[in-house]
Amino acid sequence: MMYTLAVLLWSLLATTSAHQVHQHASTATLNHPESTILEALSTYNDPVQAMVALHPSSADMLAEPRLLEVMDGSEVRWMTEGDKLRLRREDIDFIDWTRRDLLVERGFQADPNMPKVSHQAQVRKVFPHLSTTNMFEFLETFTAYYNRLYTSKTGVESQRWLYDEILDIIRKAPSTCRLSVEQIPHLFPQNSIIARFSPSGPRNISQTVTIIGSHLDSVNQYFPLLNAPGADDDGSGTATILEAFRSLVQVGYSPVDGPVEFHWWAGEEAGLLGSMDVAEDYKARGLNVGAVLNVDETAFIKVNSTPAINLIEVGATEKLNKWVHDLAKEYVDIGVKYSGMVGRGLDHQAWTRHGYSAVSIVEGDQAEGGWLPFPHTGASFTARNSKS
Ligand SMILES: *[C@@H]1O[C@H](CO)[C@@H](O)[C@H](O)[C@H]1NC(C)=O
Repeated sequence: MMYTLAVLLWSLLATTSAHQVHQHASTATLNHPESTILEALSTYNDPVQAMVALHPSSADMLAEPRLLEVMDGSEVRWMTEGDKLRLRREDIDFIDWTRRDLLVERGFQADPNMPKVSHQAQVRKVFPHLSTTNMFEFLETFTAYYNRLYTSKTGVESQRWLYDEILDIIRKAPSTCRLSVEQIPHLFPQNSIIARFSPSGPRNISQTVTIIGSHLDSVNQYFPLLNAPGADDDGSGTATILEAFRSLVQVGYSPVDGPVEFHWWAGEEAGLLGSMDVAEDYKARGLNVGAVLNVDETAFIKVNSTPAINLIEVGATEKLNKWVHDLAKEYVDIGVKYSGMVGRGLDHQAWTRHGYSAVSIVEGDQAEGGWLPFPHTGASFTARNSKS
């Protein structure tokens, strides 16, 4: 199942770049024709200078101070919004701590909720409802947006479209499901989305919440005004958890011990902005989060490499990683591995830094170089387009 899924997604991924290149010329939503952007990029090596040349009014915003944790082991330090463009071009991840510096108990990890794996019969009943066709169709539309940048028009439109897809699923839900969905606003245009299965009985905010998440935004790492189909990062995770959500609705799922939530976070590529907002809010409200599973980049398989589920060790909850490892072993027949993934900022870190237990799964076998290798598509600045 997993393998077929991955192969399907990979074929989509392979076709997306070509499709998107074709789309460049006809994109009407850009403020600038792409030729103007390319001209600015050839004039200025610095992405900030290029952006200011294209949008003089963005100069103040790009100069705004941001408290960034650069994922190269250095201390959290004040940089600027423009520096984020420079870091992304260097493929260096970061977490944006602006306005959060005093709130976080860093390094604290709560004990995860790790019930005995004992629902095999119920879980296996859901499997026949999972459809790779649904995922493929979803990704065709989701990746056709010019980009899903957290500040762009298409970034908002793609997020609204995802929200509508979730509403469609909920409209068809059997009455055994107690479902709710909300859009979470941030200080930027794109919203995060939370869909929730609530247990029967009166609402009880002391119950343990389980969260499965992915990020809904994408970015062209060379320059944010260029296109970013984001099929793998993280259209794949978005489609994966949406299909899991849809299948659970279809079987009329009703959790017993506490709410089960599906989160689609905005602005991940700008320093985990969406997940940090949500984690901070849950902490401020004293919610009891038992575990967070983040699903990011799950479609790519290198030719001749072995499909595997990779659990990220950096910034993740060790005990929960072991539990998810055992859980995956119970249900899938591909490898389940650990990888350090030093130097990456992933949404699970937003939760562990707020004292919650969280882990991330990604594609491939790191030992075999199984992650998306950014295939080149011509000019160097479009190489990152394909990191998608
Ligand atoms: C609410 O949930 C907590 C944690 O599961 C439980 O201890 C408590 O008894 C529940 N309260 C009510 C009123 O059901």
